[in-house]
Amino acid sequence: MATYTMLAITCTFMIIGLIGVSKLQNSSNSEIDVKDFGAIGDGITDDTLAVNDAWNEACSSTGRLTFPTGNFVVQPSIFLGPCKANTVVVNVIGNVIAPSMKDWPKNVVTWIRFNNVANLIMTGTGHFKGQGMTGWWDLCKQAKTCENNPTALAFNACKGLKLLGITSDDSPRNHISINDCNGAVISNININAPANSPNTDGIDISNTNGVQINGGHIGTGDDCIAINGGSFNINITNLNCGPGHGISVGSLGRNSGRDDVVSNIRVVGCTFTSTQNGVRIKTVPGGSGSASQILFSNIRMTNVQHPILLTQFYCVEDRSRCMDIRPVVQINGVSFFNIKGTSSLPNAIEIKCSANSGSCKGITLQNINIQPINPSLKVQSFCQNADPSIVAPVFPPVVCTPTSLIEMPLNYSYDNRSQGLATTF
Ligand SMILES: *[C@@H]1O[C@H](CO)[C@@H](O)[C@H](O)[C@H]1NC(C)=O
Ligand SMILES: *[C@@H]1O[C@H](CO)[C@@H](O)[C@H](O)[C@H]1NC(C)=O
Ligand SMILES: *[C@@H]1O[C@H](CO)[C@@H](O)[C@H](O)[C@H]1NC(C)=O
Ligand SMILES: *[C@@H]1O[C@H](CO)[C@@H](O)[C@H](O)[C@H]1NC(C)=O
Repeated sequence: MATYTMLAITCTFMIIGLIGVSKLQNSSNSEIDVKDFGAIGDGITDDTLAVNDAWNEACSSTGRLTFPTGNFVVQPSIFLGPCKANTVVVNVIGNVIAPSMKDWPKNVVTWIRFNNVANLIMTGTGHFKGQGMTGWWDLCKQAKTCENNPTALAFNACKGLKLLGITSDDSPRNHISINDCNGAVISNININAPANSPNTDGIDISNTNGVQINGGHIGTGDDCIAINGGSFNINITNLNCGPGHGISVGSLGRNSGRDDVVSNIRVVGCTFTSTQNGVRIKTVPGGSGSASQILFSNIRMTNVQHPILLTQFYCVEDRSRCMDIRPVVQINGVSFFNIKGTSSLPNAIEIKCSANSGSCKGITLQNINIQPINPSLKVQSFCQNADPSIVAPVFPPVVCTPTSLIEMPLNYSYDNRSQGLATTF
């Protein structure tokens, strides 16, 4: 009798205990759904307030925010950390849509911005739709203000960022910006914008250490990926790029002599299809800093205008008067290895270094075969002021004018015929 009572009491306690545990687990795993905060998701209603309220709740509690099926129109918003949870998961099942240009507030430079959120994981098959076609692209071309259009997704001061399989379409300007971050994994990303949309870079990285971009496809009107100053330890593998302007280190040293340093960049196993450039390093005369330890390997090019391009004569403001002046952003240790495919313009390989001594060091070209896309075209290389190691086979063959020993500002106008001015960089 006493035994049975004890057993019954024990069982009751166990059941209460179980309920307690499951309730706890439920609340610690629970999704904060934007619809529970009043979002409608009909593609017309402005869901900004609901989404911001849901973020504030998720950030201060479970760290799990969900956009369910639907089309959520969201005005420019800043999602601020730090959050309470160690990991913050944003699950994008439905689409998140920017207002059309006429409905934007003035002078706002990003659409969706995450600031200071650690271990943010963004995932889901929904699309971020930046709506660049609602006037941004057309109007800025005439006014020459495309650089002032807003970025779609900006991640600032982040740590341990993960973007897994997300999609961004038609940003007004660059799609994703990663700035001032430490550690990011971007896998199977999808970024889409028309080939003629201005300044619509896929991913821009700056002031960031440790990025792994693996798989996915980026096709836009500008760089698939641009790696800017203050970026170290960046790996890009198995990405398909095109259309667009290729994967670029730089431009470095822009805006009258900025000091930009990047190093340890690996671009491996990527494809470039119908892009303007393939793999590229570009620095601006008069800038300082360096680009070092850069590897481009196992790359497939198809119908690319400038498959391999390294230039210390990237002049944004006035291309016709691109001078060889000091200082020069030093380039040191660049390998082009196993690069195959087709070029659609004559200069398949271009290496344009400053005549100032020591500007370009440690360049290696090995196992390269770029053939013309069209048999009536002849491909060639252009190389000046560098002394690359050529490890055969390299086609088209590279013969370089040697580096000089000059240590003074030259102020000569760079020969713009060889800059390929017919195309816009
Ligand atoms: C527990 O999960 C259920 C189903 O997902 C949900 O409806 C409920 O609101 C959750 N409870 C808490 C306390 O989060
Ligand atoms: C980049 O790749 C190299 C070589 O595989 C590896 O040692 C390094 O840890 C990688 N870096 C990142 C940030 O993933
Ligand atoms: C370089 O560009 C300038 C301005 O567009 C032009 O006047 C000049 O003839 C060009 N030089 C060469 C060599 O093409
Ligand atoms: C060379 O050009 C730079 C930048 O335009 C200028 O500051 C400098 O005075 C010029 N030097 C000479 C000798 O003309």
